[in-house]
Amino acid sequence: MKSKTIGVLTSGGDAPGMNAAVRSVVRVGLGRGLSIIGIRRGYQGLLAEDFWPMGMRDVSNTIQRGGTILKTSRSEEFRTAEGQRKAAELLRQHGFDAVILIGGDGTFRGGEELAKVWPGQIIGVPGTIDNDLAGTDFTIGYDTALNTAMEAIDKVRDTAESHERFFLVEVMGRHSGFIALSVGIANGVEEIALPEFPFDVAEASRRLCEGRARGKTSSMVIVAEGHEAGGAFTLAEQLKQQSNIEYRVVILGHMQRGGSPTAADRLLATKLGAYAVDAVQQGLTGVMVGEVAGRLCVTPLRETFTRKKPLDAYLLEIHTLLAR
Ligand code: F6P
Repeated sequence: MKSKTIGVLTSGGDAPGMNAAVRSVVRVGLGRGLSIIGIRRGYQGLLAEDFWPMGMRDVSNTIQRGGTILKTSRSEEFRTAEGQRKAAELLRQHGFDAVILIGGDGTFRGGEELAKVWPGQIIGVPGTIDNDLAGTDFTIGYDTALNTAMEAIDKVRDTAESHERFFLVEVMGRHSGFIALSVGIANGVEEIALPEFPFDVAEASRRLCEGRARGKTSSMVIVAEGHEAGGAFTLAEQLKQQSNIEYRVVILGHMQRGGSPTAADRLLATKLGAYAVDAVQQGLTGVMVGEVAGRLCVTPLRETFTRKKPLDAYLLEIHTLLAR
């Protein structure tokens, strides 16, 4: 029987650990006698037939590297029905049996559309710093992004403390507050504005002023990029109007997506990359591999982005008590 040819691509926002996942797909796949073809630049590269037949050595010394050696993109062309049909035709012409998609919700939405026009196997691997996919406790890149943001916020706290200032720090997460909530707790900040909940500016301002009256010498507010207020600068203005306190604003931005992956991300990426190859060999399709409560599992692709993964309710509950 002909051995399977598996394509692997990274798509959407890059995430630390994507290289570790690619490495695992390549090494485990080749080790089992499969052919692994890297598809550069995500769906855009698929449409441009930017293929890279990968060997064992192509992934040497990549487990520790941030970014993605396969490059990534957000393809407009692939969003169209015509682009999807073209992609399906190219996959057929080049003899692919399966594709492993490493990315986030946009990547998996694309995978769902591809499945309608291409009969091959499609397996997702959760790679996004946002951690906003159901079907896995953690996504690849989230832990590293958290640590990067946490270290940056510690530094902002140093200067806030010295100058006795108020700061707003904006972290990534267009639609989800996983990074904001977790660094908010890990950095011991006073207020956290999340996209999932309304933020009462007047109440927050009152608490911040009370804190100062009680002797707090600096205060920090974490704002998720996707918060309804429209970003940290707008929220800083609104808070200032309430209390006449000046807020300095720091936008952490894309630095959160870079850097060498943490041990947790390397391990998760390695397990999920290998498990994606297992899934192909088991004949599965239309699923994302993940880890829930320490167990490897699969979830239908559609469910990963339609079912809302909740924020940690316990962290939310204790935050107001901790921020004293
Ligand atoms: O999905 C990952 C992410 O970093 C989000 O947190 C952020 O909203 C978005 O990507 C930014 O995307 P881009 O780099 O295309 O502006």
